[in-house]
Amino acid sequence: MKNILITGGAGFIGSHVVRLFVNKYPDYHIFNLDKLTYAGNLENLADVCDKPNYTFVKGDIEDLGFVMELFRKYRFDGVIHLAAESHVDRSIEDPMTFIHTNVLGTVHLLNAAREIWKDSADGKKFYQISTDEVYGALGDTGSFSETTPYNPHSPYSAAKASADHFVRAYHDTYKLPTVISNCSNNYGPNQFPEKLIPLFINNIKNNKPLPVYGKGLNVRDWLYVEDHAEAIDLIFHHAVPGSTYNIGGNNEWKNIDLIKKLIEIMDRKLGRPEGESLKLITYVTDRAGHDFRYAIDASKVKEDLGWMPKVKFDEGFEKTVDWYLANEEWFNHVTSGEYAEYYEKMYGNR
Ligand code: NAD
Ligand code: TYD
Repeated sequence: MKNILITGGAGFIGSHVVRLFVNKYPDYHIFNLDKLTYAGNLENLADVCDKPNYTFVKGDIEDLGFVMELFRKYRFDGVIHLAAESHVDRSIEDPMTFIHTNVLGTVHLLNAAREIWKDSADGKKFYQISTDEVYGALGDTGSFSETTPYNPHSPYSAAKASADHFVRAYHDTYKLPTVISNCSNNYGPNQFPEKLIPLFINNIKNNKPLPVYGKGLNVRDWLYVEDHAEAIDLIFHHAVPGSTYNIGGNNEWKNIDLIKKLIEIMDRKLGRPEGESLKLITYVTDRAGHDFRYAIDASKVKEDLGWMPKVKFDEGFEKTVDWYLANEEWFNHVTSGEYAEYYEKMYGNR
């Protein structure tokens, strides 16, 4: 039995990774370490919480003493590190939280792994889940490859970039067996409705304005979250220490086109006349430092590990909308409490 630590497993992507690993690897014991911030929700894992090879640990990666104790107790064979503050807009409001969680928290985990693997790191792996946003922004053409220099613009991406540098430094300095992957924008069930797609689904449903930043011309490359989880599985098991992989959907959308497509699907599913919700589109002040375009060259992960996205965007987008419409209770739980305050602060006077 191997003990595998997944951090941030109660969040959006983490919950899909935990589900995949718990179900696919009965000979692994999966420990999900999560602080349960506003973004962490154990309801995301209701279907796996009683499995014998799963344990939830509530804790904070900023607490070095706690992290060390946990590693000494369970002697993890592998770490998949997703816990992070993940929303760009929040990072603009409050960068320090991002530095504490994303940078310091990551270094704590690295220190703990280094200590428990100091005699032998054979067969061990520390896997840092990162983002394409560390590479900065593209113009109309080109894409990010694994050798694109880091050039982050937001406090979120700067904190993730800093953490990635520490991960590489621990590999180069202490021979810690680390790997990193940098993925494009994920979409799918269980994403917290501060991010574009679930926020807009919720607003369309409730006939609330859709706050489009700037002219809506920014471009993102969207990947279905389960495809990301499968890439993580392959990279965790097969990537050589010190390596980096870019993961992307090869699926670029201008925000405004994506929003119009979402409106088309939502109006159909809600039984509204076609185009009815277009009137909700509201252009608001642009995000500060808004990266124009992200695009990923995912040829390395395809060539080395045979990974390609399986879920076609049309299918994944419909499935995503269906999930949010069918899970009203989940929406109500995550949007109660702190969410209303956040929403008012971000969009109240725009
Ligand atoms: P999320 O915000 O949905 O989840 C983050 C999780 O981390 C939450 O469960 C939260 O409770 C937990 N967490 C936060 N601070 C913590 C702390 N101090 N200690 C322990 N747990 C803590 O994020 P997500 O969208 O699922 O992203 C997961 C990871 O993937 C992040 O590292 C993010 O940078 C990366 N990523 C996300 C995307 C995307 O499109 N969402 C794309 C590429 C990479
Ligand atoms: P988001 O989901 O926050 O992801 P990221 O900033 O990490 O790419 O935003 C996706 C795109 O949608 C981004 O270009 C910003 C834009 N956006 C809006 O236009 N309005 C909104 O209310 C939000 C949250 C995002």
